[in-house]
Formats: sequence, structure tokens, C-alpha cells
Amino acid sequence: MDRDRLLRELYEFLRIPSVSTLPAHDDDCRAAAEWVAAELRRLGCSDVQFLGSEKHPVVSGVGPPVPGAPTLLLYGHYDVQPPDPLNEWTTPPFEPAVRDGRLYARGAADDKGQVFCLLKAIEAGGRPTVNFRFLIEGEEEFGSKVLFDLLKREPQRAQADVAVVADMSYVAPGWPAVYTMLRGLCYAEITVRTAKSDLHSGEYGGAAPNAHEELARLLVRLKSDDGRINVPGFYGPVKRPSTAELAAWKKLPFKEKEFLAKRVQAKGLTGLKKYSVLERLWALPTFEIHGITGGFTGQGAKTVIPAEATAKISLRLVPNQTLKTVQRQVAAAVKRFAPKHVTASVKFLHGADPAQIKLNHPAFALLDRAFREVVGRGTVPARAGGSIPVVPALGAGGAPVILTGIGLPDDRLHAPDEKLDLKQLWDGIAVFKRFYELLGRGA
Ligand code: BES
Ligand code: MN
Ligand code: MN
Repeated sequence: MDRDRLLRELYEFLRIPSVSTLPAHDDDCRAAAEWVAAELRRLGCSDVQFLGSEKHPVVSGVGPPVPGAPTLLLYGHYDVQPPDPLNEWTTPPFEPAVRDGRLYARGAADDKGQVFCLLKAIEAGGRPTVNFRFLIEGEEEFGSKVLFDLLKREPQRAQADVAVVADMSYVAPGWPAVYTMLRGLCYAEITVRTAKSDLHSGEYGGAAPNAHEELARLLVRLKSDDGRINVPGFYGPVKRPSTAELAAWKKLPFKEKEFLAKRVQAKGLTGLKKYSVLERLWALPTFEIHGITGGFTGQGAKTVIPAEATAKISLRLVPNQTLKTVQRQVAAAVKRFAPKHVTASVKFLHGADPAQIKLNHPAFALLDRAFREVVGRGTVPARAGGSIPVVPALGAGGAPVILTGIGLPDDRLHAPDEKLDLKQLWDGIAVFKRFYELLGRGA
């Protein structure tokens, strides 16, 4: 295939700033959906539709019929995370640029580059050998509600023999992976109100409650210094991975020192120290504070006691925890830890249950073979720290959901200078092309 042409096409997709959580980009999300729809039509899909009543549609399509061949559902998302902080990008997030064999742009790896890879692998294969179905959504980055509701109403939309979700990465360069677990997510805003309005910090300071101080105290009650999350009942259902799984992780090319120095680039790691870093990343739940607002944050100085403060937080969930229970536990913990003189409230924004995938379906062996042929190594089983809310629903009809991807661990998803190595893209197209072939042959 003509790589220059492919790059030009991918650039077009990446130039669309389809940030799903920012209403100012609603039209851009629509444009990205149109881009996907046009690609599906070019692949000969019939029935290309925009589905869902919410603002960013799910693009669905049905590939040319191949009688007797299996049905393969391809999932991906055309929405991206906000690009800020903008001044930390080497080149602007929506002006794709190649440096040193790497393509830099918001969405390069998460997930436009991977959607592109799945689609171009079909084109590369010539006449399809399987019955393709597509669900490419535009709200993954804020909870996938539209696709969730759609699949609840019309579960047959996910009916397939096999589903592929390419929204992940290799575990290391040269080490492709399939994932047996995704963490779930519980995203919330905790708001603390301490008075009717802000107060002069001289007139009232010393006797009036301060919303930021109360919020800070509440947050440290929820998670202590050693990394333990103190939401009552939270760890109840959490199980340690089997000794076999832990032993397998030890064989992966993952070094804690390198992870700190090259990827985290901080002075030290945190969390529950008695567990390995991989266990903390893949098998334990988390509590993170994303941002705190309220009070005075403008230029200069203002002496005021804030009456309200809000923290955006999220918890990652692991198997056997459920979003519903965790929401209840968090609401109860906030109530319990907030002192009587403050009004604390919790608003849940979105979330997802954790997903667990068994690798016993023969399609996993075909993908393993395709990777082995193209990149020289098969897939290793791994877990993922991130979440893809709709995965449990995609598998509800019984199809095995293959969680894989062509990214690398240092792609900087959601961060400045997100990138995709071009070698990963070209290899990826060859891998999926081969996988479609093998699946079609029933090999
Ligand atoms: N592609 C990621 C999920 C992911 C990241 C899986 C890293 C495996 C490794 C996805 O686009 C994502 O970012 N999901 C969000 C979901 C949330 C906004 C509901 C996440 O995990 O924060
Ligand atoms: Mn993604
Ligand atoms: Mn993402």
C-alpha cells in the first residue's frame, strides 16, 4: 500500500479536534463521525448509520456479505481527550507531525490511529473474507453512555462471532499483548460547602470554616499516606492474582526502575509498597484526585475564606468490585468523614464496571499467529490499568472480546506529545490483515 497516501488520510482524521467532553467541539465530533462513515462506505459497507440519541453518534456499518464466513465486530472510538496543557506539546496536538519515525498528535494512539489501522487492514486484504460489523463510537472518553444505552435497547448490534477492541498497547516494544482484564472506573465530584458565601479572611479567619481546608482533610481521610483507600468495604471483594499469573508477570520485560525513570519521570513511586508495581497498576483499585476548584485562583492576592470547594476524583475498580456498590460506598464514606459543620455532596459523572476476558476461544490463537508471523512474537496475556466502559456489554452476547492494540507503553495517552510509532502502524495493518484472513479461513 502507498504509505504516503495512508499517512495523508490519517492526518485528515487526526486534524479533526473531536474532543467529546467539551461542548465547543460538538461539530468536530460530528466531522470525525462523518470521516469514519465515509471510510466505511469506501470499504463497501451497507447500512452505514449514525446511532444513538446523545450528541456524539455511534457510527455503525455492515461490511459486504461473505456467506458462510464468521462475523467479526470491530470496535473503536473517534473521540479524543482534551489536549491541554497546550504549551507542553512540541507541535500542536491537531497538526500531526512525524519526527524520528513517530507520529505526534492527539488521538494518534488513542484511538484514531488504531481505528485507522483496523480499517486499512481491510482495504489491504482486498475482498473481505469475514462479515465485518463496525461500532465506532464518539463518547468513549466520557463513559460511553450512548453506546451503552444503544446496546441495552438493541443488543443484536453487538452480535458477532468475535469482537476486536484495538485500543490498547504492546506491553513493551516487540511484545504484543492480549488483555485478560480492564479496570473499571467510578468518576465523581466531591463538593464541600462551609458557609453561605465567601468571607473576609481577616474579619472571620480563626473562627469560620474554610471549604478548601475541609475538602483537603476529607480527601486525606479517604486515602492515607501509604496509598490505602479508606472507603469502608472498598477492598472487600478484591482478590490477589493467582500465583501463576504473578509468576507470568515476572517474565514480562518490565523493570520498576525503568518505569520510574523513563515513563513516570518522577522522583519516586507511591502506592501500597508491599505489592509489586505491576500488581498496583493492574490488580489493585485506585483513588486519584484530578483537580480541585473553588476559592481564589486568579492573578495577584485576595484575602478570602472560600465557602465552596470541589474535587474531581476517580477510583479504578478491579474484578468483583462493581460501579454501583462503589458509588454507594464512596457516598457513605464522604458523609461519614465530613464534619458536622460542612455540607459535603458527591455527584457521580460516569463510570464502568471492570471487565474480565477468558482467552480460550480459538480466535485468540489466530491473532497470536498473525502477530507471530508479522512481528516475530506472539501475544502475551496481560492486564490493563485503563478502562473501556463498553467492553462488558460488547461481550454480553457471548462473543469473545479480543482486547489488543498496536500502541506502545510510552505513547503518552491523554498527555502532551501523544504519539504512535509508524512501525507499529505498518506492522499493525499487516497483523490485522493476516488475522482477518486466518479468521475467514477458519484456520
Ligand atoms: N484506550 C483507553 C483505555 C486504556 C488505556 C486501556 C491504557 C488500556 C491501557 C481509553 O480510551 C480510555 O482512556 N478510557 C478512559 C475511560 C473513561 C474516560 C471512562 C480511561 O481509562 O480513563
Ligand atoms: Mn482509547
Ligand atoms: Mn483514552
